[in-house]
Amino acid sequence: VLLAGVLLAACARRAEPPPTAPQPPVAAASASPASPASPAPPPGAPEGAAAGERAVLFLAADVRGYLAPCGCSENMRGGIARAAHVLAEARGRGGAVLFVDGGNSLFGAPTLAPAQVPQEEARARALAGALRQMGLAARATGPLDAARGEAFLAGLGLPALAPGEGRALDAGAHRVGVAAGRTSAQLAAGAAAARQAGAHFVVGLVPLTLEQAQPLAATREAAGGVDLLLASGGGEPGAEENRLVRGAVPLAAPQSKGRSLLRVDVALGGAGARGGAAPGPFGLQRGQADLERELEAVDARLALLAREVDQPGVSPALKALKQGKLEELVARRARLASAEVPGLQPGRFTLRFVALEASLPADPAVARQVAAYDAEVGRLNLSWAAAQGEDCPAPERGAAAHVGSAACRSCHPDAFPVWEASKHAHAWETLEAVGKQHHLNCAGCHVTGWAQPGGVCRIDRTAGREDVGCESCHGPGSRHVTAPSAETIVGRPGEQACVGCHNPENSPHFDFATYVPRILGPGHGGARSGAR
Ligand code: HEC
Ligand code: HEC
Ligand code: HEC
Ligand code: HEC
Repeated sequence: VLLAGVLLAACARRAEPPPTAPQPPVAAASASPASPASPAPPPGAPEGAAAGERAVLFLAADVRGYLAPCGCSENMRGGIARAAHVLAEARGRGGAVLFVDGGNSLFGAPTLAPAQVPQEEARARALAGALRQMGLAARATGPLDAARGEAFLAGLGLPALAPGEGRALDAGAHRVGVAAGRTSAQLAAGAAAARQAGAHFVVGLVPLTLEQAQPLAATREAAGGVDLLLASGGGEPGAEENRLVRGAVPLAAPQSKGRSLLRVDVALGGAGARGGAAPGPFGLQRGQADLERELEAVDARLALLAREVDQPGVSPALKALKQGKLEELVARRARLASAEVPGLQPGRFTLRFVALEASLPADPAVARQVAAYDAEVGRLNLSWAAAQGEDCPAPERGAAAHVGSAACRSCHPDAFPVWEASKHAHAWETLEAVGKQHHLNCAGCHVTGWAQPGGVCRIDRTAGREDVGCESCHGPGSRHVTAPSAETIVGRPGEQACVGCHNPENSPHFDFATYVPRILGPGHGGARSGAR
């Protein structure tokens, strides 16, 4: 059985230091001095905390309504059913395993257009159902959770913490605390409540971006006395990577859109014993540098291989070979990183990002919930469109509207076969094959002129606009069709025409220079004919 692919916290190295950072991220664990607040291991400490003294926490954050990846590229991470598998697997090993959500997980945007409401509500319900099924113990709420208002949120029945609230969660013989808040005072109030209820180790759930949360990590006091801060973002663009800032209090933010979980292994028992009635502060375990370096090396090789697999035009045989190699590496990394932390000292904890790799199995019960949502949502969207759908607004005066690819054929008969042989001409079929042609969150890049002035805004009126048509790259063509000239159309679309769809999430290895020859040929872009 494959275990969770784990990306060690060492990838903090790749995080962009936020410009206003008062506390720059420290790169490698080996180089990082113990933070002043971290307690030294007690003299004559035992080899490590006994199994019964340990707890494992899985923290999700910034999921943004993602139930599963779109499948636009191979090896896409993420998916709530894979997360559920990771949890079930850890619980199967015994010991205390807790699941907590830092927030900003239910919706992709803080406000929704009316047409999106049926789908987004159904999705939030499906996600909430999955979270409950996974035994979610507590969560904070952020702006991306409130898109449908307080009453809708409360109706989901999730164990929410208000800002300033804290709770102690049972973890075997001990208790682990969670506190929610955006300010030091709120975190301090929550942490005090959690400690009052018997918690030693306390996690602060902060529904802010990593950058916004950094001042909280500067000192223990600023952090309200919590031991670890989890930032759940809230839609910032730069959340494509797992990030860890080793401030006085560690501050972590898992990769957005449910692509990673943060795993915390904490040795609870010794802290209380060492500090007497008031347990001392918990600190990051030292001495993991070798493991981190090895994992980083594996990660670098993985990134390279994934790029090769995703390259368009790789022969199926070579692709299969590289894919096999990639899966081997994923498994190796998982073995390295899911191993029990050797010699975890009392009062210490470790942080590891668990990447929800494509090769992970899905939890069957949660996968069924996701499938039920997928089946329902197309029908929901169609009936909403029939009852209340509105066409797109007309373009501004003098600007062109979309007319569909068929209108281009008569005058550009040579360009057509080249386009028809490209994957763009089958982008709608791709959605049909997975039954998602009526999902609003797929239409944007698999339909021509979706949600644009003079384009198509109703999911029941995509006829003639299916696929990535001529106007997806050349722009709306109504003016050109009536007054054909080089001035009325985008003649030579550049990289900018591609990256709206070929973005880092859906097309992570997009490279204009290698991609563009694959859409051109004799009759379409003659200058580069033969380049494919
Ligand atoms: C932001 C734009 C965007 C959105 C939104 C999007 N896709 Fe895609 N999709 C792409 C791009 C770009 C590719 C091609 C990626 C590549 O090959 O580099 C693609 C490729 C695919 C493929 C692979 C097709 C093949 O030939 O192997 C599938 C399947 C797919 N998308 C399904 C979906 C589904 C389902 C959704 C909605 C959940 C969706 N896409 C939403 C941009 C998008
Ligand atoms: C009625 C005939 C006609 C139709 C319909 C038509 N075109 Fe054209 N198109 C032309 C002519 C003629 C030119 C050459 C203009 C020139 O070179 O001055 C042209 C040129 C172009 C060019 C190259 C511009 C350049 O800068 O070299 C593109 C791209 C193009 N058309 C795309 C389209 C698309 C997309 C459609 C459908 C929306 C379309 N055309 C429909 C007649 C047409
Ligand atoms: C409106 C969104 C959109 C735009 C704009 C767009 N693409 Fe795509 N592209 C897609 C989708 C969706 C697919 C996958 C189609 C499928 O297989 O279902 C794709 C697939 C491709 C592929 C095939 C990749 C493979 O795996 O074989 C190439 C090459 C490509 N695009 C190049 C480009 C280039 C170059 C541009 C800009 C000049 C561009 N695309 C603009 C959406 C877009
Ligand atoms: C994925 C983006 C994309 C799509 C879809 C696309 N084109 Fe193009 N097209 C380009 C690019 C890029 C060039 C410029 C090539 C160059 O710079 O030499 C181009 C060039 C052209 C030209 C001018 C060069 C020539 O060979 O005459 C015409 C005409 C044209 N396209 C028509 C079409 C028509 C008609 C369709 C739909 C059947 C279409 N294109 C679909 C990207 C696209």
